[in-house]
Amino acid sequence: MTSPQRTLIERIRARQARVGVIGLGYVGLPLVVEFARAGFDVTGFDVDAGKADAINAGQSYIPDVAASDLAALSASGRLRATTDMSRLGTMDAIDICVPTPLRKTKDPDLSYVVHAVEAVAATLTRGQLVILESTTYPGTTDEVVAPMLTARSLTPDVDYFLAFSPERVDPGNARFNTRNIPKIVGGIGPASTEAAAALYGATVEQVIQVTSTRVAEMVKLLENTFRAVNIGLVNEIALMCHKMDIDVWEVIDAAKTKPFGFMPFYPGPGLGGHCIPIDPFYLSWKARQSGFECRFIELAGQINGSMPEYVVQLVGEALNSVRKPLNGSRVHLFGMAYKPNVGDVRESPALDVLELLTRQGATVSYTDPYVATLRHGSQTLQSLPQADALAAAADCYVVCTNHDQFDYAAIGTSGALVVDTRNALKDRTASTIFRL
Ligand SMILES: NC(=O)c1ccc[n+]([C@@H]2O[C@H](COP(=O)([O-])OP(=O)(O)OC[C@H]3O[C@@H](n4cnc5c(N)ncnc54)[C@H](O)[C@@H]3O)[C@@H](O)[C@H]2O)c1
Repeated sequence: MTSPQRTLIERIRARQARVGVIGLGYVGLPLVVEFARAGFDVTGFDVDAGKADAINAGQSYIPDVAASDLAALSASGRLRATTDMSRLGTMDAIDICVPTPLRKTKDPDLSYVVHAVEAVAATLTRGQLVILESTTYPGTTDEVVAPMLTARSLTPDVDYFLAFSPERVDPGNARFNTRNIPKIVGGIGPASTEAAAALYGATVEQVIQVTSTRVAEMVKLLENTFRAVNIGLVNEIALMCHKMDIDVWEVIDAAKTKPFGFMPFYPGPGLGGHCIPIDPFYLSWKARQSGFECRFIELAGQINGSMPEYVVQLVGEALNSVRKPLNGSRVHLFGMAYKPNVGDVRESPALDVLELLTRQGATVSYTDPYVATLRHGSQTLQSLPQADALAAAADCYVVCTNHDQFDYAAIGTSGALVVDTRNALKDRTASTIFRL
């Protein structure tokens, strides 16, 4: 008799496997599109009926996914979305891409993962492959997910398969996407690793197998901790250079000409997004349980977390140069998203800058072509067109996010005070421009 694993792999190779993706956000939506493009019959599952309806209507709500691609796949009948979790039982493979935020205490919040796995466990069937993609601490797959799947008395790695495969997508990146970013795969046993590698091997350009779910989980956390720590380092160097009257941007540009052993990272107003400010704390939380203190992570967190205050200090210095106080000044922010050319404001440091400026008595407005409105306390702020913002002659402009759509020449030549946290006005010097 053929084993459940062989049957599954044959169904994957023949593109007969039905693939389900739970969580249709920045990670899940591009993934359903890739699975459908690879020839699989794909069902997206989300608790948000609005997202399911949008997908079924061929409408994209993620900038990296073209509506035309989604519409074509949905019209072909190969891609659909639902909120009905009972249909998970008919899937051959299930990918879980739900959020993994932090609690207020900076402890991991696995509640979304737990809810999704409960739904999978309720209909788990022989031969199914379950893959966790949400970023999380090493041990989540074998300590949290696997025990939840044992209730149906199926033997792991024999009757059903369980793996971890970190999502490495970089929203807004024109060069690297779900398909051409190598996929790391680690299963709870060799049969699971092989089955998961077969699924991704049919979908993305390169698959790298590792020996366990814990290694796969740790790979992702090493990558994101590497970024958080290096950004922390360069932010500290920027603060140091400010005191020593050295242009940190010129230093980085010159240092990066070294063809080996150096990689440029850039200072800025702080960390944002759903990954870099959060993921390292999943690791430090878990390490602490083994009696290990992650000093680099904590220090980088402190430095990166202090950057919005530093930006506000620079705004104060800029206003001071023309004998104006922060209190009562009108400050206009360019860019509220956490990085260029996306509309994601989760954890965005620009929100902290907005809050800190408001607390000091400034009247704050903003322009962001990707963020039409913004909740701030009891108020709803609206993005102003750039020309209107400049015509309104604020006391100080702050470039928080360097979207390509901004006209930096117009900002730089406006004659107004500008605090530039991203070196967006590169090569432009004036006594009115204050560069981070
Ligand atoms: N955004 C990124 O750039 C990025 C990159 C790599 C990895 N990740 C990781 O991927 C995971 C998902 O992140 P995201 O940015 O796609 O999140 P997201 O918030 O954009 O999307 C998550 C989706 O899951 C849905 N959801 C929540 N609970 C659910 C449940 N029980 N059942 C079904 N659907 C549910 C939400 O409605 C939402 O649509 C996180 O662990 C994140 O750390 C994100």
